[in-house]
Amino acid sequence: MDIHAHKILILDFGSQYTQIIARRVREIGVYCEIRAYSISDKDINEFAPTGIILSGGPESVTGSFTPRAPELVFTLGCPVLGICYGMQTMAIQLGGSVASGEKREFGYAQVALTETSELLKGIEDHLTDGQSLLDVWMSHGDQVSGLPKEFKTIASTNNCLIAGMADEKRHFYGLQFHPEVSHTRQGMRVLERFILTICGCQPNWTAKNIIDDEIHHVRKRVGNDGVLLGLSGGVDSSVAAVLLHKAIGDQLTCVFVDTGLLRLNEADEIKTVFAKHFGIKLICVDARERFYTALANESDPERKRKIIGKTFIDVFDAEAEKLPNIKYLAQGTIYSDVIESAAAKTGGAHLIKSHHNVGGLPEDMRLQLVEPLRELFKDEVRKIGVELGLPYDLVNRHPFPGPGLGVRVLGEVKPEYVEKLRLADAILIEELYKTDLYYKVSQAFAVFLPIKSVGVVGDARHYDHVIAIRVVETIDFMTAHWSRLPYEFLETISNRIINEVPGISRVTYDISGKPPATIEWE
Ligand code: XMP
Repeated sequence: MDIHAHKILILDFGSQYTQIIARRVREIGVYCEIRAYSISDKDINEFAPTGIILSGGPESVTGSFTPRAPELVFTLGCPVLGICYGMQTMAIQLGGSVASGEKREFGYAQVALTETSELLKGIEDHLTDGQSLLDVWMSHGDQVSGLPKEFKTIASTNNCLIAGMADEKRHFYGLQFHPEVSHTRQGMRVLERFILTICGCQPNWTAKNIIDDEIHHVRKRVGNDGVLLGLSGGVDSSVAAVLLHKAIGDQLTCVFVDTGLLRLNEADEIKTVFAKHFGIKLICVDARERFYTALANESDPERKRKIIGKTFIDVFDAEAEKLPNIKYLAQGTIYSDVIESAAAKTGGAHLIKSHHNVGGLPEDMRLQLVEPLRELFKDEVRKIGVELGLPYDLVNRHPFPGPGLGVRVLGEVKPEYVEKLRLADAILIEELYKTDLYYKVSQAFAVFLPIKSVGVVGDARHYDHVIAIRVVETIDFMTAHWSRLPYEFLETISNRIINEVPGISRVTYDISGKPPATIEWE
């Protein structure tokens, strides 16, 4: 089965919701890609979309030199759905008009369905006086004020007479509200009607089909050659490892580098899961001394990161050299990495999140890249991980930065500091699991502060180090709130850390949001 046979092209006009549109389309079971609105005709033809969605965007179509969709979008013959800015540019480009709004409309609105349409058929939240109403999410200033030829109004509100429009013959639809955000109650059904009914896509994009497809492609590409994968224990590289192992078995060799900057028992857990349970060929390199030596006497955060990145690559390269049959290097790159590096390269679309990773790849690499998760969002990677039999807690663990505890020991990284941090961190994580809070927060960790503060144990005064606790809740890690953890929980971890970790006199809880603070302390 060709899981890319039906696919939706999403043209990005810079909305903060564009990635959400893509995730919804994938959830419906159809492959899609996000491209910049300035995509070339050649690329559109190559992509061969079954349907096109035009996203929202921050600009005003009434301004000069604001983005427009390529004309080809409207002559290709496939259905088109314009959302918010996408609807407005569709209206202007097809001969309608748009009025710039005096005031922004932001938040809940009820739209009345004024005429039946293929897009909104059978969807209603309320029926009041014979009128079907939908609860939707609006976020706009401008609005369509004149319909293009052949269009009819299908939805309207008091503030926005043309909140939905349709040309059923050409299958062109515009919505002023956002069906992709969960506040629009039946938004998924609206998108389903567009993608499955109007575009006629088959929902073949499922975890099982994706796995089968990727296995087929990896086998075809790699043949009988060897593949090397750097396994960090994070979700992406773990899922990539198990997927590749399923595809090519012993042709895959994983290298796990113990940097000395890992969490408690991490190295043992990796060996148990991957080598023992899955039977994956795993080389574990104990590079702890090497990292500690390289980091000695360095307290500048940026230089520490660079040292860790470089040492990692050196160790990894040295292992790769020992394996002459290896022709490919596998990486757990996922779709958001691809979108972000494309955005960074063109400078066009907004940068969603700056992507940091451990070091870079050497320019003169003799190995070719294999990236089996390149088309997948994080939630899809997780679904595939579960389907492949990876343990739930591994697939759903909090993110852990590439440089590891190296960015969580402030100042110089000394082995004895790392040791204290590791114990404090393990207590925090253990208590989060015990109280059923781990999966309710997005990221939790301890930070070692190389300053001394007074404490009293028995009758003696001690000057010992300080541990800070950071627990945050966030959706995209771009912004974050500190978790309002119960006082009793904070008291338990504070007592346990001071009692159980030698040389810690004080525990503090970080109550800074991002922004202005970042999640890591560095
Ligand atoms: P900040 O500190 O920038 O962190 O608010 C945002 C998210 O990124 C993670 N992070 C990193 N991940 N390498 C990584 O792979 C890094 O160097 C790095 N620095 C921060 C951080 O843990 C949080 O999830």
